[in-house]
Amino acid sequence: MAPRKIIIDTDPGQDDAVAILLALASPEEIEVLGITCVAGNVPLALTTRNARIVCELAGRPDIKVFAGSDRPLKRDLITAEHVHGKTGLDGPVLSDPIMPLQEKHAVDFIIETLRSEPKGSVTLVPIGPLTNIATAFEQAPDVVGNVAEIVLMGGAYFQVGNITPAAEFNIHVDPEAAARVFGSGVPLVVMPLDVTHKALVTRARNDAFRAIKNRVGEAVAEMTDFFERFDREKYGSEGAPLHDPCTTAYLIRPELFSGRHINVEIETTSDLTLGMTVADWWRVTDRAPNALFIGDIDADGFFSLLTERLARL
Ligand code: RIB
Ligand code: CA
Repeated sequence: MAPRKIIIDTDPGQDDAVAILLALASPEEIEVLGITCVAGNVPLALTTRNARIVCELAGRPDIKVFAGSDRPLKRDLITAEHVHGKTGLDGPVLSDPIMPLQEKHAVDFIIETLRSEPKGSVTLVPIGPLTNIATAFEQAPDVVGNVAEIVLMGGAYFQVGNITPAAEFNIHVDPEAAARVFGSGVPLVVMPLDVTHKALVTRARNDAFRAIKNRVGEAVAEMTDFFERFDREKYGSEGAPLHDPCTTAYLIRPELFSGRHINVEIETTSDLTLGMTVADWWRVTDRAPNALFIGDIDADGFFSLLTERLARL
């Protein structure tokens, strides 16, 4: 079967980095057409730096990396240095990238790619705030119907919130963008905190990364060692939750995941619950289902896939 063509939209972020590495290590299943960066975990200047660092770490300086939106559609940017460190990729010592950033704006790349590739052949994989995707849909409504599927990390139901009591970070940063994407009619696969909090880098799993004995395994071990502090303190977790790699792992082995096709709406008005994903998990409304909302993962299968693929780089 031909590899699935994807655009990764990202705000690296240690977990974004692992998602990108997994995609680049899996050419049989995934063809990365480009990486578009958005402001989120850290400001845009750092997310574009970090995305290129990760491509070079994977030995792929040929990957096209684009700068996108430097702030949400209508709100001030909220960042997460308290989770990811001041560079957004704290943990390993990594030098600045050599590969260039593309001149073209990320949104123009998304629009032009969706217009030029065969209809229904491109999957969007947003793993940060949804500003770039929503902007592309606003500027070029004709491309919405060309998207094969959107496989995103964001939201929560049972796990509720990680940046506020009610909302997950990616959705909370740009709720208007999220509402545009969730209301677009494009087939959605959503990886919420409900599933990503089951993908924890335990000590044994981190040791397995180190045992790969290549620069990627070492760097990923150091990234997740750094990244786990926030969740250990907040949730008492036994390791860092690998939020974003759930998306690229789904593209490779969807059978590792299970969920429900339900309606998910986004809170965009209440200050108290801004960015909440109101997921009709129990189907108590007659709202039309718009997303495959993932609730469970074969975590051991996920980590063995991830470790095996990282060893290829
Ligand atoms: O809430 C987790 C999400 O927010 C992940 O995508 C992480 O990288 C941050 O962007
Ligand atoms: Ca992210």
